Amino acid sequence: MLNKTKEQTRTPSGIAGLDQLTYGGLPTGKSYLISGEPGTGKTILSLQFLLEGLKNNENTIYISIDEKPDHVIKDAEALGWDLQHYLQNGKLNIIDITSYFGSSKDKEGNTIDSKLIVNKITEYIKSINPTRIVIDPIAPLILSDNSIPDVIEYIRSLIFEVESIENCTTLLTSYIPVGSTKVSFFGIEEFASSGIIHLKLLPQNNKRIRTISIRKMRGTRIDLSEYSFEILPERGIVLRQAL
Ligand SMILES: Nc1ncnc2c1ncn2[C@@H]1O[C@H](COP(=O)(O)OP(=O)(O)OP(=O)(O)O)[C@@H](O)[C@H]1O
Ligand SMILES: [Mg+2]
Repeated sequence: MLNKTKEQTRTPSGIAGLDQLTYGGLPTGKSYLISGEPGTGKTILSLQFLLEGLKNNENTIYISIDEKPDHVIKDAEALGWDLQHYLQNGKLNIIDITSYFGSSKDKEGNTIDSKLIVNKITEYIKSINPTRIVIDPIAPLILSDNSIPDVIEYIRSLIFEVESIENCTTLLTSYIPVGSTKVSFFGIEEFASSGIIHLKLLPQNNKRIRTISIRKMRGTRIDLSEYSFEILPERGIVLRQAL
C-alpha cells in the first residue's frame, strides 16, 4: 500500500520506527542501498521490507545471488516468518541468479559477462511486474573475477534498470569488509543508488549493539541520528533509541 505525502508517494519500509526517520517512508520508485558488515541484519531488513508488501498483496521479488533461496527461507522461518504461503500464491518470487551461471567462469574459462547477468535480471523482473524488489547482494561473488570497471558498469546499469520500473522500490544490499570505514564495497553503489541505510555492530560497555542510520535519501528530509535496534522474533528489526 502506498502513502501519499505532499512531495511524493512513499513506500512503507515495514521496519518499526524507520519510516519516522524519512518522514513518511521510502520515496517510491527508487533504489536504496542497505550496507553493513556481515551479520549486521541486511538480509533480515530486506525480507521485512518484502513482507510489508506481501501483507498488502503486492508482487515482490527477492533475487538471491550468493545464497541458496532455501537458506533464506529457513532463516526467515527461524524468525517466525512463513514465506511458503506467499511463494505458493505467487506473490513472493525468489530466484537464485547463481543457478543460471553456476560459477564465475563459463565452460571456456572466460569470466561471466556481467551484461548478461543484468539482462537476465531485467528480463525476469519485467515478467513479474513487482512493486518491491530486493537484490541481495548487489555485487555478487560470481563477479569477483571480473575487472573492477566491469563490475562498476554492472552495478550502474542494474541500478538504472530497477529505477526505470515505475512504482517499484528496490533494496540492494552491499557487503562492507569487517573493520572498514567504507559505506559500500566498490564505492559506485553509494553514488548510484538514491539512498543509503547503514547497519552497524558498535562496541558499547564490553558488548556490541546493533545500530541503524540513514546516510542519504534523495528527495526527502531525513533524521541523521544513529538508532540502536533489536532483532526480535516475529517483529524482526525494531528501532530503539537514538545514540
Ligand atoms: N531468529 C533470530 N532471532 C534473533 N536474531 C537473529 C535471528 N536470526 C538471525 N539473527 C541475527 O541476525 C544476524 C544476521 O542477520 P542477517 O543474516 O540479516 O545479516 P546480513 O547482514 O545479511 O549478513 P551477511 O552479510 O552475512 O549476509 C545474525 O548474526 C543474528 O545475530
Ligand atoms: Mg545476508
